Amino acid sequence: MRPDRIGGDSWWRQAVVYQVYPRSFADANGDGIGDLAGITSRTPYLASLGVDAVWLSPFYPSQLADGGYDVDDHRDVDPLLGSLDDFDELVTALHREDIKLFVDIVPNHSSTRSAWFREAMEAEPGSPARDRFIFRDGRGQSGALPPSDWPSHFGPSAWTRTRNADGTPGQWYLHLFAPEQPDYNWDNEDVREYFRGTLRFWADRGVDGFRIDVAHALVKDLSEPLRSKPVFVDFDNPPTGDDVLFDRNEVHDVYRDWRRIFDEYDPPRVAVAEAVVSAPRRVLYTRSDELHQAFNFDLLNSYWSRDEYHAAIESSLTHAREAGTSSTWVLSNHDNVRHATRYGLAEGVEPTTWLARGADPTLLDPDLGSRRARAATLLMLALPGSAYLYQGEELGLPEVADIPIDRLQDPIWVRSSGELKGRDGCRVPLPWTADGAAFGFGPGASHLPQPRWFADYAVDVEDDDPHSTLSMYRAAISLRGRLAVNEDLTFLPSEHGVLHFARTASWESVTNFNLTAVTLPPGTVMLSSEPLNGDLLPAGATAWIAPDESPAPI
Ligand code: GLC
Ligand code: CA
Repeated sequence: MRPDRIGGDSWWRQAVVYQVYPRSFADANGDGIGDLAGITSRTPYLASLGVDAVWLSPFYPSQLADGGYDVDDHRDVDPLLGSLDDFDELVTALHREDIKLFVDIVPNHSSTRSAWFREAMEAEPGSPARDRFIFRDGRGQSGALPPSDWPSHFGPSAWTRTRNADGTPGQWYLHLFAPEQPDYNWDNEDVREYFRGTLRFWADRGVDGFRIDVAHALVKDLSEPLRSKPVFVDFDNPPTGDDVLFDRNEVHDVYRDWRRIFDEYDPPRVAVAEAVVSAPRRVLYTRSDELHQAFNFDLLNSYWSRDEYHAAIESSLTHAREAGTSSTWVLSNHDNVRHATRYGLAEGVEPTTWLARGADPTLLDPDLGSRRARAATLLMLALPGSAYLYQGEELGLPEVADIPIDRLQDPIWVRSSGELKGRDGCRVPLPWTADGAAFGFGPGASHLPQPRWFADYAVDVEDDDPHSTLSMYRAAISLRGRLAVNEDLTFLPSEHGVLHFARTASWESVTNFNLTAVTLPPGTVMLSSEPLNGDLLPAGATAWIAPDESPAPI
């Protein structure tokens, strides 16, 4: 049993949470799709990493129009991934290892295959069944124009027209994401009650927490006439809480309501919001009577720059502290180009554009990317707050940038008319062994093709190498668990391009963002992202240091 961090009910404040994308983690039955039994079989691996919790991306029945974020039934398991019994076994296996479990709650939208949506399609305009979603008549004489100019995140319009039973064109429904993901109407009490019940359903099964998908989107301004909003996210105007679609003040009533449910449980259940908003707006979701944390993508969005990192850390910590919560940190997830690749791209090259334009290898330095990614991770794991890791980053996996077009699954590819390649490159099934079918992912094939070079990153290869990225993650998570006794951080004076801070009297972290080596600060190196030579910290490296005058290491 590992020692409790900032223990008890506050375990989440400084946790290491590992994101599992279930279809690509481990496949127990060989059909090419990762499943719950596969995850259960790998709990010893998760325990060996030392993570505090696992966050499971959606495993619910789904037509996979958006990687499982199109949910047919929020209270069941996709038969391809297993059953509720398999889910219970996974909870038991994780808890036996003292690992907590978060599940993904997707409250903004449903699926066109859900019972409610099918009922709505058969019901009349204006009926209670249609009121659970956002149906509207079209504009223009025959209603052939969408009800408003709102765009979908995946492009182009957020509205799709239905057909009536007799084949004539009918009303339109709203979907901020793919057409298979109709948005719920959060002004409808059935919807609110359904999600209260869904939270209880999983909490009763022993789930410890929830990750709330697009938490800022639920409540919209649906007053007529619908207001114009031609761009999905408006970076030009400061948020006011009165945007048409996002981050509206009323959305907080939902989380106040949910908090009462979380607090009914012993221990209380916790929740982290995916709220893609600015730092000051983000912490509103974490007020003491709302959710506990919110994802902070400021590091993920930072270039490899000392000043960008410094600014992101300072602002995140200040805002989190003011809100009485702790910050979260993310470098990779299932929606973004992996950080080992992002940090290897030539300066100024935007990762999704690079992918879309054929992933020109002359713009990528893979070794530089992998070095900087390790340094970024070691820095992140030294920060106060919770670190969210994405499966495969502990192996240093780069993005798979050359998936053949006919194998792509992400709706972004089709919906953007091929302008963007989408997110499949970070969702390729993990390599567990250097040999064997699908690199040990399962006894069969793998639903997305794995490149040959995945062998070099296989768990069994890195297991045996004390200098591997996997070994660094294990050492860092274990050491952090012993060192993170409080949430303090003090920046220390440092030379140009170097970020140096102290966590406690016996724990400092120093990162060299420059292109050449710098002198290490005095002290004993406890861990480093690169092998060290004398008293130099190489370019693109982080070291954890116990200052000379510090108390003896624990
Ligand atoms: C979130 C998920 C993303 C999904 C979207 C719609 O941003 O992380 O994968 O496509 O919501 O549910
Ligand atoms: Ca399977």
